[in-house]
Amino acid sequence: MIIETNPKDVKILHIDSNNPILWEQLGQAGFENHADYKSTKEEVEAKIHEYNGIVIRSRFDIDKTFLDKATKLQFIARVGAGLESIDCDYAESKGVHLIAAPEGNRNAVGEQALGMLLSLFNNLNRADREIRSGKWIREGNRGHELDGKTIGIIGYGNMGKSFAKKLCGFDVEVLCYDIKPMVGDANAKQVSLEELQQKADVLSLHTPWTPETNKMVNADFINAFAKPFWLVNTARGKSVVTQDLAQALKSGKILGAALDVLEYEKSSFEHLFTDDAIPEAFQYLLDAENVLLSPHIAGWTFESHEKLAQVIVDKIKAVYFGSADSNEEEKRVTGIGGVFFKSENPDALKDWYKKHLGLATDNYGWTFWWKDKEGNDACTQWSPFAADTKYFEPSQKQFMQNFRVHDLDSLIIKLKEEGVTLVGEPEAYDYGKFAWILDVEGNKIELWEPVDKAFL
Ligand SMILES: NC(=O)c1ccc[n+]([C@@H]2O[C@H](COP(=O)([O-])OP(=O)(O)OC[C@H]3O[C@@H](n4cnc5c(N)ncnc54)[C@H](O)[C@@H]3O)[C@@H](O)[C@H]2O)c1
Repeated sequence: MIIETNPKDVKILHIDSNNPILWEQLGQAGFENHADYKSTKEEVEAKIHEYNGIVIRSRFDIDKTFLDKATKLQFIARVGAGLESIDCDYAESKGVHLIAAPEGNRNAVGEQALGMLLSLFNNLNRADREIRSGKWIREGNRGHELDGKTIGIIGYGNMGKSFAKKLCGFDVEVLCYDIKPMVGDANAKQVSLEELQQKADVLSLHTPWTPETNKMVNADFINAFAKPFWLVNTARGKSVVTQDLAQALKSGKILGAALDVLEYEKSSFEHLFTDDAIPEAFQYLLDAENVLLSPHIAGWTFESHEKLAQVIVDKIKAVYFGSADSNEEEKRVTGIGGVFFKSENPDALKDWYKKHLGLATDNYGWTFWWKDKEGNDACTQWSPFAADTKYFEPSQKQFMQNFRVHDLDSLIIKLKEEGVTLVGEPEAYDYGKFAWILDVEGNKIELWEPVDKAFL
């Protein structure tokens, strides 16, 4: 919903420094920017009632106390991916728009997850350290190949999908587990947690930090894996119990770990420890040869610094002016996915089309391949159905349409809100997701979010 206000009347408080384009472009759009990078949470709370928007990275949590004082707040923008430092339910109950920018750093996270994994597999960091100290050890640094391995991704959203995309060039099987149904795509097959634990050689975490994912990777979870495996964590440190990880590294159940995030990080992610004591389990990681550590930088690149800021600017503007690319977003249907019709004798009909029109028909009719505007392979299906087919029900018509859609899950939500009749439940296959609706004249429409290359 667009907030119809003159941007001159929108006062935005920036409490973390960010890429300058954020400040500049919001200013150019007419918003009133204010910066306060130093005040404590309490000091900011004392004046937050004057502001309509706040732009934050991770300096402090935005809790109920803060939100109760922010009486004019219209949006909270977090220049990052996760929103766990914000009491989202409470903010939304007060009508505050929540803005995050996972589009800005998902590529960075995908690249780093892959980089860490390859580095771990090939002992690159250890070998580098050894050479610097005068050691030339080849056999001890024999590596592993990704080829033929099964990669299990838990949490298949922005980050998980980005990592899966990077893995496309490798001959690996990619599985994903997610609490949301139907999130799998051409790059990762969605499976149960049990199947992932049964098959995976590598586990990469891409979940947010929630009560369910807090300490998720513990001894029981690790031992439920059928094979020894490698662990990559670029999600949140508190999702892994370090003591159990250290134990599993000692026993060989975990073959190696690449950790961009640590259980001991402060919630601002800016520091490691509040005091100087190093927990024993962490000392084990520090000494372990098969552990690769980085200081929460997976999403932290020169490119993401700018992209995060740009995404935030665009989303703040969208709250007040509507989205510049809202037409694109609103483009619900992207083309005809198929033409299905009833036939007295489908086989004879297909033969006729083969002979006279040269269609390469098969059991399912004819698949017409074409390129979409990005040059990807795409297809449209032409299929005669037996006259007594039940597939068109409840429609009594002789034909049925299939529309290719951009984002089936969100389209279904919108259609339900609009009172459109859905027929049956959505279904997911390797080649895409499907749902069925009726138009106002009772024609049945199959909606298809395709994964065309799965056919190739
Ligand atoms: N290291 C870094 O620099 C860095 C950068 C960006 C994001 N992250 C982390 O990555 C997380 C994911 O970001 P995103 O943008 O992909 O989020 P997202 O919301 O797009 O995707 C997260 C996915 O995890 C799923 N999920 C939630 N709880 C789950 C559970 N218990 N089991 C299985 N799946 C579950 C959700 O359904 C969702 O599909 C962030 O919350 C953040 O913690 C880290």
